Amino acid sequence: MTTSNRVPTAELHLHIEGTLEPELILDLAARNGITLPHPTLAELRAQYEFTDLQSFLDLYYANMAVLVTEADFADMTRAYLHRAAAAGVRHAEIMIDPQAHLSRGVPLATSVGGVAAALAESESRFGITTGLIAAFLRDESEESALAVLEELLAMDAPIIGIGLDSAEVGNPPSKFVRLYNRARAAGLRLVAHAGEEGPPAYVWDTLDLLGAERIDHGIRSVEDAALVRRLAEEQVPLTVCPLSNVRLRAVDTLDGHPLPRMLAAGLNVCVNSDDPAYFGGYVDDNFTALRTTFGFDAETVRTLAGNSIRSSFAADARKAELLEELDAWQG
Ligand code: ADE
Ligand code: ZN
Repeated sequence: MTTSNRVPTAELHLHIEGTLEPELILDLAARNGITLPHPTLAELRAQYEFTDLQSFLDLYYANMAVLVTEADFADMTRAYLHRAAAAGVRHAEIMIDPQAHLSRGVPLATSVGGVAAALAESESRFGITTGLIAAFLRDESEESALAVLEELLAMDAPIIGIGLDSAEVGNPPSKFVRLYNRARAAGLRLVAHAGEEGPPAYVWDTLDLLGAERIDHGIRSVEDAALVRRLAEEQVPLTVCPLSNVRLRAVDTLDGHPLPRMLAAGLNVCVNSDDPAYFGGYVDDNFTALRTTFGFDAETVRTLAGNSIRSSFAADARKAELLEELDAWQG
């Protein structure tokens, strides 16, 4: 697949901190006078072997130490947008983990402000429309999440919604009912990770207790036939991240990934990169791996990209524009 025929798509499951490439980590460390535990590219790269979600999260949070100034956050975001444009991304809904920065002493104005500054020029510079989602760490308390949400609302942060991420097992959706009620009352859109490592019951509860409009991952839903029927009936969007699932051992190998079964069951699935700097690829790499492994044809790719556009929180006019572009895509 050449750059010119990348399928035009929306990326709906992307952690901006997960786009921090090793080279940029070293550049930012030098710029901020930070000594890293793995100070060379080779040493740093040697850490990118994961056994599960937590083993990844340990490195992901440690590497955030290099993000100090608003310019650091803006540079990281611009680097993602530049790469995403080449990958075919035309609309991106981007998660940030504000608590992970606050706990290191980095104020919300710095982290959110830096990312938002880069997003403000995204459409004119990269042709990518965007939205920012504040994701809350489910291994932290609900009180902490509520306090940060209130601070974001008080500062009129340019966020379109909230998400829920970090260590899933043992941190069920039931822990965050008040957070989601507050965000809904504030007019925010609601998404949440569920069914990545956690059981299908977490997906049910994310829909029923939190009222999430989209499920991030959701791959373990296939273990529960009644849940699959419900997801199909309601066309709940599932933002699937195939290369992430392989690298975090949620599936053994890509050819055992449930995505083809999810498509066959009529689920509203789309393809996303999650933390592309850590998992071996951006959204185009995910599509290429799927085409190679499963022999997906152009129509299947068009279906996946169409699902992403329709499942986005973009304005109706933007969705129509992107669906038209997708229609004209030659495959
Ligand atoms: N934070 C960043 N990436 C994540 C993932 N794949 N699952 C949960 N939390 C995350
Ligand atoms: Zn994720």
